[in-house]
Amino acid sequence: MSGRALRRALLGWYARHRRALPWRGVRDPYRIWVSEVMLQQTRIVAATPYYRAFVARFPSLAALARARPAEVLAAWSGLGYYRRARALHEAARQVVREHGGRVPDDPAAFARLPGVGRYTAGAVLSIAYHRPLPALDGNAARVLSRLEALPASVRDAAGARRLWERAAALVPPERPGDWNQALMELGATLCTPRAPRCPDCPVRRHCRARALGWTDRLPPVSPRRAGERVRLAYAVVTRRGRVLMTRREGPLLAGLWEPPGVEVGRGRPEAALRRRLVALGLRVRLERTGATVRHAITHRLIEAEVWRGEPSAPSSRVLPPRGAGPGAAVRARWVDPRAPGVALSALARKLAGDGGGARTPATPRAGRPAPPRGG
Ligand code: ADE
Repeated sequence: MSGRALRRALLGWYARHRRALPWRGVRDPYRIWVSEVMLQQTRIVAATPYYRAFVARFPSLAALARARPAEVLAAWSGLGYYRRARALHEAARQVVREHGGRVPDDPAAFARLPGVGRYTAGAVLSIAYHRPLPALDGNAARVLSRLEALPASVRDAAGARRLWERAAALVPPERPGDWNQALMELGATLCTPRAPRCPDCPVRRHCRARALGWTDRLPPVSPRRAGERVRLAYAVVTRRGRVLMTRREGPLLAGLWEPPGVEVGRGRPEAALRRRLVALGLRVRLERTGATVRHAITHRLIEAEVWRGEPSAPSSRVLPPRGAGPGAAVRARWVDPRAPGVALSALARKLAGDGGGARTPATPRAGRPAPPRGG
C-alpha cells in the first residue's frame, strides 16, 4: 500500500478524532511554541490549565519578553523543568531583539534560539508555518517503530537517529503539522505502549508490526537510566497560616522557593535544620512528623523527611519583610501556599500542602523524567 494511502488514512482519522485543545486551531507561532515546550514534559491534561494561565498572563511574545524572570517562573511554577521556562523567556527576548518580534520560520534561525532542539523546531515550524519537518516525541516514535517494524528506541542514540530519519522521510509537504500531531495523537490514544487498540487503528493495514504479530515487542525496551536516590529533610515552619520559604541558589532550580532543607547523612538532621533556621534569625522547636514526601525530578528520586514547628519567639530581625528595599537580598519569606506570589518548586507545594501532617503517598509526577528528545 502506498505512502499516500497511509497519509490519507491517518490524516482523515486525525481530522475526525483529534482532541479539542486550546492551542489547536491557533495560528500564533508563539502560542504553539509555549504549548510544545509544556507538552515536552507534561501530559496534555496536566499542561492544559498551565497553558491557559500562561498565555492569559503573557498573551504575546512581546509580553513574555517584557516580563521579569520571577514572573515567568511563577507562571511556570509546578510544571517542573524550570530551565525550559528560562530558555523560552530568553528566546522570546532574542526574537524581539534579533527578529523584530516575529518567530523566525527559518529552521536554522529558529534552532539557534535557547532551548530549541530538533523536536521543538519541527513541531512549532510544521504546525505554525507548514514547514515539512519531522517532530518525534515518544508517542510518535512508538507509532513509527511499529508501523515500520523498526526495532529502534528513541532512548538510545542509534535508535533515535533511525527513527528521526524515517520521520523525516514520511512527513508530507502538505499539512506537515497535522501529520506530526496525528502521529503523536495516535500514540497517545490508540497505539499505546501496552495493550494498543489495533482494531480501532486507522492505519492497521499499513502496520508491519501488526502483520508480524510484534506489536507487543516494539519498540524494544532500552534500559532506563537509574535515578539517583537522595534523602533530604525539610523544616515546614508555619506562622499564621504562612509557611517559611527560602530562595534556592546554585545550579538546580535556582530562583525557586521552598522550605529550608538539608541533606540527610547519618543521624538525625534536626541540628542541621536548626542551624539553617538560626541563620535566618529564627528559633524553632522542630518535631519529626513521620511524613515522607517522595518526589521525582529528572534523574533524582527525592525522599524528604518532614519536620515541622512554629517559631517560639518571633523576632523582628527574622526575615527581610516582603518587598524589602531594592538591593536587599531577600533570602526567606513567609508564604501563603494557596497564593504564593513567588515561584514554588513542585516539592515545596507538596511539603506546604501536606503541612508536615499525615504521611503522604508516593506521588512523583510533576517532574516526570524528560522524554529523550532534543527539544
Ligand atoms: N504532544 C506534544 N505536542 C503535541 C501535539 N501538538 N499534539 C498531540 N500531542 C502532542
